[in-house]
Amino acid sequence: DHQHRRKRGFFIVVEGLDRAGKSTQVERLAQHLNAKPIKFPERTTAIGQMINSYLAQTSELDDQAIHLLFSANRWECVAAIHKTLDAGESIVCDRYAFSGIAYSVSKGLSYDWCRHPDIGLPLPDLTLFLDLDAQTAAARGGYGEERYEKLEFQAKVREAFSRVAQDVKAHGGRWVTIDAGKTLDQVTDDIQRAVQRATSSIDRVGIKLGRL
Ligand code: TMP
Ligand code: MG
Repeated sequence: DHQHRRKRGFFIVVEGLDRAGKSTQVERLAQHLNAKPIKFPERTTAIGQMINSYLAQTSELDDQAIHLLFSANRWECVAAIHKTLDAGESIVCDRYAFSGIAYSVSKGLSYDWCRHPDIGLPLPDLTLFLDLDAQTAAARGGYGEERYEKLEFQAKVREAFSRVAQDVKAHGGRWVTIDAGKTLDQVTDDIQRAVQRATSSIDRVGIKLGRL
C-alpha cells in the first residue's frame, strides 16, 4: 500500500573536477529543490580536520590512509543523511564516494581497493557529473594551494571519473553527464532538467534508496 508510505527525500550528488562549478550549482539546485546542501569532505568533524590539513598540505599521509579517512568521513555522516531523507527532505551533496575513487585511483591505487571502503553507503538517486576538461578548468583560475589542484593530475582524475561513471551505470545507478563548459545559467538549466527527468521516474515506481 504505497499510498501510505511516507515519501523520502531524494539524494542527489554533484561531482566533477576542481573548478567545474560544483559549489555554485549545488547551492542553486538545493535552493530550487528546497533541499539540504551538504558536501564532502565535511571538514568540521575530527576526521574532517585531518583531511583539511592534508589538503592544505600542512600534513602528510599515505595515499591509503587519506583514502580511508575520506571514506570514514562519509560513514560518520550516514546516520544524518538517512535522518534527513527519512524526514522527507532532499539532499544535494557536493562530492561523494565517486570523488573518493577517482582521486585515489589517479594516484595509482587500484580501482577495486579504492571502491571497497565505501561499499554499503547510500546510493544516490542521481549523480550529476559536471564535465569540464582539465585545461578549461585550470583556465578558470582559482586553483589555490590545495593538494590536487594541478592540471596534469586533474586530467587523470577526469579519466578516472569516466571509469567510475561506467561502473555506476553498470550497477544500475543513474549518472548524468552535464557539459560544465556552458554558461552558469545554461548549466543550471541543464541540471534542473536532468533532475526533473530522474526524479519523476523515481516518484512513479517509489524506489527505495539503494546501496553502493
Ligand atoms: P573540495 O575542493 O570539493 O572541498 O574537495 C577537496 C579535495 O578533496 C578535492 O580536490 C577532491 C578531493 N577528494 C578526494 O580526494 N577524495 C574524496 O573522497 C573527496 C570527497 C574529495
Ligand atoms: Mg577544491
